Amino acid sequence: MLKTDDLKESAARAALDLVTDGMRLGLGTGSTASRFVAALGERVAAGLNVVCVPTSDATREQAARLGIPLTTLDETPRLDLTVDGADEIDTQLRMIKGGGGALLREKIVATASDRMVVVADDSKLVSVLGLYPLPVEVVRFGLMATIGLIEAIAAETGCHGAITLRPGAADAPFVTDQGNLILDCAFGTIPEPEVLAFSLKRVPGVVEHGLFLGLADLAIVAGKSGVRAMRRAGA
Ligand code: A5P
Repeated sequence: MLKTDDLKESAARAALDLVTDGMRLGLGTGSTASRFVAALGERVAAGLNVVCVPTSDATREQAARLGIPLTTLDETPRLDLTVDGADEIDTQLRMIKGGGGALLREKIVATASDRMVVVADDSKLVSVLGLYPLPVEVVRFGLMATIGLIEAIAAETGCHGAITLRPGAADAPFVTDQGNLILDCAFGTIPEPEVLAFSLKRVPGVVEHGLFLGLADLAIVAGKSGVRAMRRAGA
């Protein structure tokens, strides 16, 4: 039987077919994206010419180790393609991301890209988003007030559930690469992701949320019967 790790590897390697010489790439974060970065490193070592913007310090370090040419969005503000993983993907390719805590840079990089392709094993496919707790990146200042506002606006959109501060090492909270905190919102189901996404951005303490809507146009999903491509309708 194929293990999840093998499925992640298959999806990540399939995405390499989309990469052509000279591309400007966004590199995602997480265990599936890191397999893509590893495979890309092999191609670069064999002569492929690309330049890449990583979505986290961890991905930057991995790519640098592999000799993948790196740039920044300041130097290269527009990218051809970003390949990243996801925590949940629905049938419209709406996603929850941020399980690895990199959602802010991931969203900035995906939005700066002509195309975003998500790579995943089929355990990430859902009919309704929300079983995976929605990560929301917030500033430290006013944390309790921000939590209260998120609870209130989430309830207005039919979302209820515990909101917990993501723990880090040694009893300290998890801190993102941008120096912020993450709230994990266990809503169970998110009936209207677009409405919740819009409302969350009205909360001043919210930096960004892990709802990625209308960003991915293709999902490469590996399951026990093989790798399949799911396209977003209208993309
Ligand atoms: C990182 O912040 C996340 O958005 C990841 O892309 C997501 O958690 C998927 O990670 P895995 O590929 O490790 O499941």
